[in-house]
Amino acid sequence: MLTAQGTRSPAERREALKEVLAQARACERCPELAATRKTVVFGSGNADAQLMFVGEAPGASEDEQGIPFVGRAGKLLDQLLGEIGLERGEVWVCNVLKCRPPGNRDPLPVEIENCQEYLRRQVELIEPSVICTLGNFATKLLRGDPTGITRLHGKPETVLLGRRAVRLYPIYHPAAALYTPSMLATLREDFMRLPELLAQGPPEQPPPEAWEPLAVDEPETAGNGADGGQEHVSEADQLGLF
Ligand code: URA
Repeated sequence: MLTAQGTRSPAERREALKEVLAQARACERCPELAATRKTVVFGSGNADAQLMFVGEAPGASEDEQGIPFVGRAGKLLDQLLGEIGLERGEVWVCNVLKCRPPGNRDPLPVEIENCQEYLRRQVELIEPSVICTLGNFATKLLRGDPTGITRLHGKPETVLLGRRAVRLYPIYHPAAALYTPSMLATLREDFMRLPELLAQGPPEQPPPEAWEPLAVDEPETAGNGADGGQEHVSEADQLGLF
């Protein structure tokens, strides 16, 4: 339910997020990904987080466990978070694609298009102040522009995503930094500026009278309770940090 100010309580937003998770777990919009995935890696963390990270797509470990950034890149992300005094349970972590592309190939434009509704709804329901895009795919999608991460990393800007203004902060993808020491140094430097950005709080929000109507193409609901063949990962485990 929306209040007079057009906002929902944290509990209502959390419940709505669980519904989006159920929809994503049954999603078959990308036939190849639906046929080859083990799990839908929706995202995990704090449903009321001020800071959201958006990566590219799940890899093999993430596909197995149903949780984003649990492999080597994830360990680096955890380490960098620790260095600024944060842990995974305080932030939200997700990807542009919720399913693993076979062989870890790049996401296809049609897959990004099919999946972006889930990310949009995550932003709308979690209401972060800062979204940190990890690498090119997330940065290009959320800025709606093809400029690459090399030019943009470490430069915060305010963008409007749906009805929400957020501070977008592009940084290098930890998987890329794993193999390039100079990139790791830059990633760490950029990461160190996150506390300062978070301290600024949310940017000024557009007034409700300026809201564009939201797109009506909500993801299809599971309907028959189908769960994409991922019974080995329970919904509660996937969102264990809520
Ligand atoms: N790389 C990503 O972009 N996302 C993950 O979840 C893991 C590795």
